[in-house]
Amino acid sequence: MGVHSVMRVLCAVSEVYPLTKTGGLGDVAYSLPHALHRVGADVRLVLPAYRSVLMQLTSIRILGWLMLVGAEREHSVRILETRPEGFDFPVWLVDCPVLFDRPGNPYVDEDDRNWPDNAERFAVLSRAVVALAQDRLSIGWTPDVVHANDWQTGLVPALLSNIPQRPKSIFTIHNLAYGGHFSLETYHALGLPRAWWRVDGIEFYGGFSMLKAGIVYADEVTTVSPTYAREICTAEYGCGLEGVLQVFRQKLHGILNGIDESVWDPQTDPYLSAHYSAERRHPGKILNKQAILHHFNMFCDERCLQVPLIGMVSRLVAQKGVDLVLAAMPHWLEHTDARFVIVGSGQTEYEQQWLALQAQYPQRIGVFIGYDEMLAHLVEAGADMFLMPSRFEPCGLNQMYSLRYGTPPVVYRTGGLADTVFDATDEHVAAGIANGFVFDEMSVAGLQDAVARALACYAQHRRWQALQRTGMRQSFGWDHSAAAYMALYRGLPALREKV
Ligand code: ADP
Ligand code: GLC
Repeated sequence: MGVHSVMRVLCAVSEVYPLTKTGGLGDVAYSLPHALHRVGADVRLVLPAYRSVLMQLTSIRILGWLMLVGAEREHSVRILETRPEGFDFPVWLVDCPVLFDRPGNPYVDEDDRNWPDNAERFAVLSRAVVALAQDRLSIGWTPDVVHANDWQTGLVPALLSNIPQRPKSIFTIHNLAYGGHFSLETYHALGLPRAWWRVDGIEFYGGFSMLKAGIVYADEVTTVSPTYAREICTAEYGCGLEGVLQVFRQKLHGILNGIDESVWDPQTDPYLSAHYSAERRHPGKILNKQAILHHFNMFCDERCLQVPLIGMVSRLVAQKGVDLVLAAMPHWLEHTDARFVIVGSGQTEYEQQWLALQAQYPQRIGVFIGYDEMLAHLVEAGADMFLMPSRFEPCGLNQMYSLRYGTPPVVYRTGGLADTVFDATDEHVAAGIANGFVFDEMSVAGLQDAVARALACYAQHRRWQALQRTGMRQSFGWDHSAAAYMALYRGLPALREKV
């Protein structure tokens, strides 16, 4: 295609907000394609027709049927087209009831166990994407670029690589820790080409990795922050794929995620009790604090609005440093007057520890275990500071949401956190760039120290307000990063990363 013709992009993903979301991938799968659309790309988004997605849709058109290879069987798959509310382009759904019409979330059953046929489910999704990229349904639309995301669509670049006349493939790593690793037996069952079973193909420690397939066979590989792009080339963060990533370093780019500034806007957010802005935080912000305290039955009187409230919204997994926070709680409960609101779900042992703490200190700790979009927004707005001590964080969206909501984050210096949060040192404060608290030692002591600094700063109203203002005035929109992706699609040198 010429540089000036319309860029046709087929985005392939396993979840998209607001239809189905388990984390930041869903947010990005919604907001990046919209940002591409705004800069003139002709976008289609393809994802599985999960039961929960179909239940939300009112109008669907059948585009056609495809026969696709699964695990030792073929599937007759319907491709549906829909335009859900809030979408500016068509969404295509891969409708294969045997694989996708079930309860639970996209990856796990109601007891949080991986679906046993995940390899087949996402291999079929990937085969459908490739069929659509070849216009096997004769719709009259072929993409210039296929943009696949994470292991669930990792086979897309590999399958495309076998096609002579093919679109360019881009593969984005949102989280290297989820590798889509399966056995040799599964490899055979899925009928994947023998030629890929190599160390420099998709073989991985005696099994195979769908994430590695994306890395090896895509024309360009991106990940969601410049720092994480560097980190994953090291043994510490590479999850065993650092060697492959080093080999392909030339095609690896770190492009920082943006956030949807219209969904996450304290001036208009429909989930908030009151609206506010960088210029007029009062009384909006404190009214949200009051609302979240009421929600958790923690509101006592006006005085408790002055006590610092620390918030956390997170998948409750080791990545997010939840264990560190739990380990630090006895210290904070004894030595500070801080109160806590936690919204999250994940590993059972963390969930239970939070619930036990709440039962013991109902006036100090509010806990919601589960997934709740409204509460996530209200915690961002109502808390005074936001905890995000992730061990690793490819990008992280929550720290950007909290910055935008005037809720300075406390983070470990890693990945996208390092690229977006600037520690409140005297120099950074003087330079007007301080927006939160960053610690360098991944330990309970490191976290406690950062929180102690945050609490001390909170007591200094002017300094605290300066931090809030800096974060709220920053731009976290997609413009710069969407332009970087467009440059990559066009084969131009990627724009300098936004750091
Ligand atoms: P990750 O994708 O690793 O979970 P991110 O910070 O990129 O981390 O994105 C997390 C997203 O998921 C945010 O939009 C956050 O608000 C949301 N989220 C996480 N846990 C919950 C929850 N329990 N309820 C509602 N939203 C949640
Ligand atoms: C993953 C990462 C998170 C990132 C998100 C969107 O879930 O864990 O850091 O923000 O993807 O790219």
